[in-house]
Amino acid sequence: MDTDTTPTIPTTTTDLPGGLWSLGDRSLTRFGYGAMQLAGPFVMGPPKDHDAAIAVLRAAVESGITHIDTSESYGPKIVNELIREALHPYAPDLVIATKVGGRRDARGGWPTARKPDELRRQIDDNLETLGLEHLDLVHLRMGDATGPAPEPVEEAFATLVDLQRQGLIRHLGLSNATAEQVAEAQSIAPIVSVQNAYNLATRNDDELIDRLASEGVAYIPFFPLGGFSPLQAQALSAVAERVGSAPLPVALAWLLQRSPNILLIPGTSSVEHLRENIAGAATVLSEDDVRELDAIGTRP
Ligand SMILES: NC(=O)c1ccc[n+]([C@@H]2O[C@H](COP(=O)([O-])OP(=O)(O)OC[C@H]3O[C@@H](n4cnc5c(N)ncnc54)[C@H](OP(=O)(O)O)[C@@H]3O)[C@@H](O)[C@H]2O)c1
Repeated sequence: MDTDTTPTIPTTTTDLPGGLWSLGDRSLTRFGYGAMQLAGPFVMGPPKDHDAAIAVLRAAVESGITHIDTSESYGPKIVNELIREALHPYAPDLVIATKVGGRRDARGGWPTARKPDELRRQIDDNLETLGLEHLDLVHLRMGDATGPAPEPVEEAFATLVDLQRQGLIRHLGLSNATAEQVAEAQSIAPIVSVQNAYNLATRNDDELIDRLASEGVAYIPFFPLGGFSPLQAQALSAVAERVGSAPLPVALAWLLQRSPNILLIPGTSSVEHLRENIAGAATVLSEDDVRELDAIGTRP
């Protein structure tokens, strides 16, 4: 795979819904792209259609997106390699965010891997597969596949802070974390983002989002469209029909309106859905629309 001759795809940042967000010394589009869905079934192995996966990544950047979320665990390796093949050499304004703290086993499980030597290896692996000399944004993934768990972040987070001091990481974030773990990490070193499960229907992090907004820290919902079981609700369909959009993009418009620190990383393996999501996320929802959509959510 020789990708270094691929011309850099020029990006524009003017047309995407939500505008821009400052992430430390970087600026990125609030409308980003989550690359996990590009791997094969159960996020293992290569995509069913390699060329279609490359086309989605290029379409994302051509549409002006400057934030792509990935992980060495997707495939594993496969998604990072697709990103490199599609987009390297990267446009200077492209922020590729990754996460560490887990690995894949032979059966496709997601065991945790947060010991210092495991984290160092994951950083090296991400640098190698993405073809980068430093990583712009690394999230430390806590908990496990069932969700966050109360456990200390100190040893793992301090390892990443050390790698940041060595110049391998520019900015740090936390993922799949409790509010207490976020506070613990912030007592050790600054973070620029939290990436947790949140969408119209799953609203455990409402308080955390508001706190982070007041601190200028980004909140990046994963599963913004419901993940492996995309959102379905009568109220979502009703509002979508009223505003003239497909239903799922309305869930993205709601997130953009929910708080200015929310950055979107919806996943799709389809250029058509990517375009539909960008168009629908620009919908301006009325107070009545928001009230109706708010009623879908469950809180703890
Ligand atoms: N930090 C973490 O622990 C963690 C965990 C999970 C995910 N993530 C990140 O979060 C990103 C987003 O999560 P996700 O991709 O799992 O879930 P998602 O964005 O909530 O939903 C993706 C699903 O929605 C479908 N979809 C997208 N647009 C659609 C449209 N317009 N109409 C109909 N279906 C549509 C996709 O199918 P098609 O392919 O057919 O469009 C796919 O099945 C991931 O890509 C990953 O980068 C992080």
